[in-house]
Amino acid sequence: MHSYQFFSRIFISLGYVQCNKIYLAKTFMTLQENTESDLREDFLAGMRFVANSVTVVTTDGKAGISGATVSAFSSVSADPPMVLVCLNADSSTLDKIKENKDFCVNVLPEGAKHIAERFAGFHDAEFPNRFDGIDFTDSKGPSPVISGATAFICQLDESVVSGSHVICLGKVIETHAGNFMPLIYMDRKFKRISDVEG
Ligand SMILES: Cc1cc2nc3c(=O)[nH]c(=O)nc-3n(C[C@H](O)[C@H](O)[C@H](O)COP(=O)(O)O)c2cc1C
Repeated sequence: MHSYQFFSRIFISLGYVQCNKIYLAKTFMTLQENTESDLREDFLAGMRFVANSVTVVTTDGKAGISGATVSAFSSVSADPPMVLVCLNADSSTLDKIKENKDFCVNVLPEGAKHIAERFAGFHDAEFPNRFDGIDFTDSKGPSPVISGATAFICQLDESVVSGSHVICLGKVIETHAGNFMPLIYMDRKFKRISDVEG
């Protein structure tokens, strides 16, 4: 074999190995993307079967007034009383909560689907001010307390970024307990609670 033949065979072999590497890397990336999107879809499918109370988180102060419908709400601690809400990092209400350092979690009664839809932005074109025509009651804090809601009036303790959302931890400074059944959100629909027989 001539030396030029020997070297050209080596170059062809190296090119083949390189192509295979690129092909394998691309296949691995596609598999990884599929796994991530499968994980997200499975997560969302599972979350459809988790029932939550529907709340409207309001805030007011130097940054101005704002409110958003939020189902990601939980009690955190009783000593001292603390709650959390999770808001998308894009939320304009979140920006105002961070500046106002104050918010109120209004747990809606079962008849308040229209308020939940209003504060989710479904009617922003018709009602650019989401608070138009909504009744409020007085409280110790500056954030609006919706009449008839169970309200946890909070001072922002900490905000923690977690994935696409920000967890707002609030110290409860006043509670208004409403004597009603709460509005529920599950399986992408609003629902009401009923007793289990037996
Ligand atoms: C039933 C229901 C529950 C929701 N829960 C949340 C939630 O937990 N966190 C969130 O960031 N957005 C949630 N949203 C979406 C917000 O209400 C919506 O994006 C709203 O327009 C945000 O307003 P803002 O950008 O003015 O803050 C929910 C919407 C609905 C209808």
